[in-house]
Formats: sequence, C-alpha cells, structure tokens
Amino acid sequence: MQRVFSGIQPSGIPTLGNYLGAMRNWVALQHDHECIYCVVDLHAITQWQDPAQLAAQTREMAASLLACGIDPQRHILFAQSTVPAHARLAWIFNCVARLGWLNRMTQFKDKAGKDREAASTGLYVYPNLMAADIHAYHATRVPVGDDQRQHLELANDIGQKFNHDYGVEFFPLIEPVIMGIAARVMSLRDGSKKMSKSDPSDQSRINLTDDADTIALKVRRAKTDAEPLPGEPAGLEGRPEARNLVGIYAALSDTDLAGVLADFGGKGFVSFKDALSELLVAKLSPIASETRRWLADPGSVDAVLREGAGKAAALAGPIVSEAERLVGFLKI
Ligand code: AMP
Ligand code: TRP
Repeated sequence: MQRVFSGIQPSGIPTLGNYLGAMRNWVALQHDHECIYCVVDLHAITQWQDPAQLAAQTREMAASLLACGIDPQRHILFAQSTVPAHARLAWIFNCVARLGWLNRMTQFKDKAGKDREAASTGLYVYPNLMAADIHAYHATRVPVGDDQRQHLELANDIGQKFNHDYGVEFFPLIEPVIMGIAARVMSLRDGSKKMSKSDPSDQSRINLTDDADTIALKVRRAKTDAEPLPGEPAGLEGRPEARNLVGIYAALSDTDLAGVLADFGGKGFVSFKDALSELLVAKLSPIASETRRWLADPGSVDAVLREGAGKAAALAGPIVSEAERLVGFLKI
C-alpha cells in the first residue's frame, strides 16, 4: 500500500478551495492508501499569527478535517509542531536546497509581495520544510491543489540531491496527486486570483463554516459577466468567473463541465446561481454541523491529535534518525 502525506495550514477557516482541491481528496484516498494528514502550524507562522488564534485555529482545522471524514482510527491526523522530526529534517534540507532553487518559487513571490526585505526567512525556506514533512515518512503520494505543484517538484529535487550527495537511495520520488476539475478554485470577486483563507475580503470565498444565508448572499454577489451560460465547455474560454462557478458546480455534483452546461447552457446566471447555492448548502452544511459537534468537546479533538502525534512520531523518528546518521551526526 502506498503512503500518502498532505498538510494544510491553520491560518484561517478552511475554504471551498481547500475542500475541493485537497480535503475531499484526502478523504477519498483513505480507501486504498495509508494516509498521514497534518495541520501545519510551523508553516503557518511563516506569516504573523496571533498566538491565541493559532492554537484555536489548529484545533478548528483538525475538527473540520474530522467532519469531512478523515478517519483517525485507521489513519493519522496530527499537528506538525508536536512531532520534532519535521523541524530536524527541515534543517538538513535547508543545507541541501540551493538559493537558486528557492528564488524560483512563485508562492514566495506572491506571499512576500512588494516588500520582500520584510518577509520572514521562514517564508523563504517554507518549501524545504514542506519537503521534510513528506520525506520524513518516505511518503510517495501527495494530494494537493494545483498551486502546490512547484513545491512538490522542489521536494523531489531536494530528495534526489540528498541521495546523490550522500551516495544513497534513501528518499523515494514523490508523485503529486492533483484531482478533479476544481483543483484550482478561484476567488468569487476576481476570476484570476485563487480563493484563499487569508484573502482580506470574506466575500471572495465560501468558508466551510458559512451558513445557508451567507452562502446564498456570497454566490449572488459573485462576479460574473452579462452573457448567458454557453452550451459547451469551449464557450467558457475567456470567461474565468463563469468557468469557476461551473467548475465548482461540476465538482460538487460529481460531473464535468459538459454535464453542467448540458443542463444550464443558454440560461442566465440568476437561475444558475440559485441552483449553485442550493448545491453548496446541501454539501457543506453537514460538514459545518459536524465541525460544531467536534468543537463542542475540544478535548475530544485534542485527544485525536495527541494520539496522531504518537503514531506519526513512531514512523518519522527512525527515518529522520537514519538521515542524520547518513549526514554524519554522531549517534550516541
Ligand atoms: P493552504 O490553505 O495553503 O494550507 O492549502 C491547503 C491545501 O488546499 C493545499 O493542497 C492547496 O493546494 C489547497 N488549496 C488551497 N486553496 C485552493 C484553491 N483555491 N483551489 C484549490 N485548492 C486549494
Ligand atoms: N504548503 C502547503 C499549502 O499551503 C501545505 C503543506 C505543508 C503541505 N506541508 C505539506 C502539503 C506537505 C502537502 C505536503 O498548501
């Protein structure tokens, strides 16, 4: 059975983008993989996080994942900072990765923005930590949204350079698992920007905790163009906002763009948006109520994370110790 690893930052409430690009696929992979899922709080602090909020959001993210259907009995769910192997291997990888490689990372450029001098050094080496997350478990399959493709290529470059430099076949190649037509869900306000939990405008995204009225309002206000929907996918070319909404509908109803347009082609956005809101509420409200149920007893979430940390440490500890021995650290 192949080993899966993936992570999500507790930097806000999970969005529809996280759900369709990642969380939903994490759940599906549980059937035929050994899965390790991680709330990556070390990654979150690469940008400022209020301490009390970070702790609460870490627990809330875990509750959302449990509500989506992550099974902590058969798989592993834990918080990154509770397993020291991640930071130990990340340091080694800081010394394996090259400045030139990190300089090419588009996410750093996006997140650092104009004032790059003021970005944390952690944000710069963020991809090295992500590579360590995966390689600490010898995981080979990594389900992510489309935006993480470049980071996974880097993780392979790092693993292969380690193997080459130390003359070993220690870290396996990893394969990105990018599933579905909604691997890149865009902002509701701007079809050229990805939907993000850290976008300053709450109107730009659907949160997994939004109630039915909020969802309906956000969908109604979502940016569109003036044309009716086309009859075929080719007609979505050059219409990013329409493409995004149709893609969301298709993903949630387990069909494709053509399937949705067969039903809605020729119709205006008013009726399509009503149908989309209804579908979103039907799919998301059970997740929201299940999340609330977990959070009504925070101790139950913490217990899951504690047990997950024990299981994760038992897998990653020996692998990272071996990496340290290969590097030449004295093992006493
Ligand atoms: P993050 O929120 O950056 O921690 O991302 C967690 C996971 O959600 C990663 O696999 C991302 O690729 C995925 N993800 C985040 N935003 C989106 C989006 N707008 N569309 C699709 N996937 C996304
Ligand atoms: N960088 C990922 C994101 O923001 C989150 C992440 C951290 C991750 N470590 C990981 C994803 C390891 C997959 C595997 O989306």
